[in-house]
Amino acid sequence: MSAAAQIGVTGLAVMGRNLARNFARNGYTVAVHNRTAARTRALVEEFGHEGEFVGTESAEDFVAALERPRRLVVMVKAGEPTDAVIREFAPLLEPGDMIVDGGNAHFADTRRRERELREQGIHFVGTGVSGGEEGALNGPSIMPGGSKESYEALGPMLEKISAKAADGSPCTAHIGPDGAGHFVKMVHNGIEYADMQLIAEAYQLLRDVAGYSPAEIADIFRTWNTGRLDSYLIDITAEVLAHVDAATGEPFVDVVQDQAEQKGTGRWTVQIALDLGVPVSGIAEAVFARSLSGHQDLRDASRGLAGPKAEPLGKAEAAAFADQVEQALYASKIVSYTQGFHEIAAGSDAYDWDIDLGRVASIWRGGCIIRAAFLDRIRAAYDARAELPSLLADESFAREIGEAQDDWRAVLVAATRQGVPAPGFAAALAYYDALRADRLPAALTQGQRDYFGAHTYRRTDREGSFHTLWGGDRSEVSA
Ligand code: 6PG
Repeated sequence: MSAAAQIGVTGLAVMGRNLARNFARNGYTVAVHNRTAARTRALVEEFGHEGEFVGTESAEDFVAALERPRRLVVMVKAGEPTDAVIREFAPLLEPGDMIVDGGNAHFADTRRRERELREQGIHFVGTGVSGGEEGALNGPSIMPGGSKESYEALGPMLEKISAKAADGSPCTAHIGPDGAGHFVKMVHNGIEYADMQLIAEAYQLLRDVAGYSPAEIADIFRTWNTGRLDSYLIDITAEVLAHVDAATGEPFVDVVQDQAEQKGTGRWTVQIALDLGVPVSGIAEAVFARSLSGHQDLRDASRGLAGPKAEPLGKAEAAAFADQVEQALYASKIVSYTQGFHEIAAGSDAYDWDIDLGRVASIWRGGCIIRAAFLDRIRAAYDARAELPSLLADESFAREIGEAQDDWRAVLVAATRQGVPAPGFAAALAYYDALRADRLPAALTQGQRDYFGAHTYRRTDREGSFHTLWGGDRSEVSA
């Protein structure tokens, strides 16, 4: 077997197959391998005309087909399946070779794998790949972690197959060492959940309060997609809402069960944020909204509970309300991205990754599920001020969210009065109001904690920790 392949892909389910095709279409000779050899043969037979594939049916042949330093892309399920593939291939590799994990792995697994393989001189590159099947084939956003050395050998290839932003720049870049790439992909998915939840709430408000049909709401989303909400998710939302179910002639959205599922990356984002002490309330509400939708028994038992049913507005009021919903959606979106980027910054500090937030925004401008014109604004904000403490500290975002105030609050009043759940909008506004508050009720919380647990508190007027003798004369002592 001649070692002529510049890249190899093992795991030829849809994502792996499309990534292999993308490399081949871009002129690389691609070694391909799959546990079921028939799938390897099928790929070469069906897509061999797109470029140079080297079909291999054993791990040894697959490795032998790769030029040095060998670059193996692993596209199998996260968790044990990935560990199993690493155990199969690592013994066949030599120092300087690299294993690229393109699955949705948990960044802690990636850090472990990178450390273990580094001891064998092998680069392990945990890589977030976003954009689904279409992205894998035509250009995803790619978020590689791992060593700088591995990016020197791998980066030019990833830049060639990645999506390109409107200015032509590749939607990939070295994110940072070890698990940084998978961490950023995890937060990407958390933001994706928040984005999708906010869109869902906007839809429900336009449906129940404004009284529009799915087809009419599709048109509203199409209009929003020509402005500051221009994004992949807004675009496909219009498509989904305009779709009519062939079997019933009903709007597609009305024949789909209203129980959202989740593979887990959004959940991880919240779990890690809890550990890092980062309030990602918008992402958390999106995860919980999916979980709540799945508790059918709880929902069935609660249907009769007292509360208003939405009364649709008249035509003129409905149009005005739709404009208010756009403001609330945009303002809440700014908050969700603020929270997501805060988590990336906190992870970067905690794991010493030195992640460039402007670069993350830059490679999310194309290819990924949250791709949006909005991300160019975020890139510009971080490029202008790398130490930006929060996106809300950027003048242009602060101005826009200020302009949205009245409408944002009016939408939440309507949602509350009409009994339409809007946890994402509400969490975003609560986060915003808490950040800008002069005093928070956390002072009372500290007093309570000191009362029942002698957990001490700090004072506003002098340094130190203190405790009040609640059970005695209530005098204060230094702790
Ligand atoms: C992407 C997507 C993808 C995601 C699936 C399932 O970036 O291409 O985020 O990685 O895992 O679409 O997502 P759920 O968590 O909603 O099941």
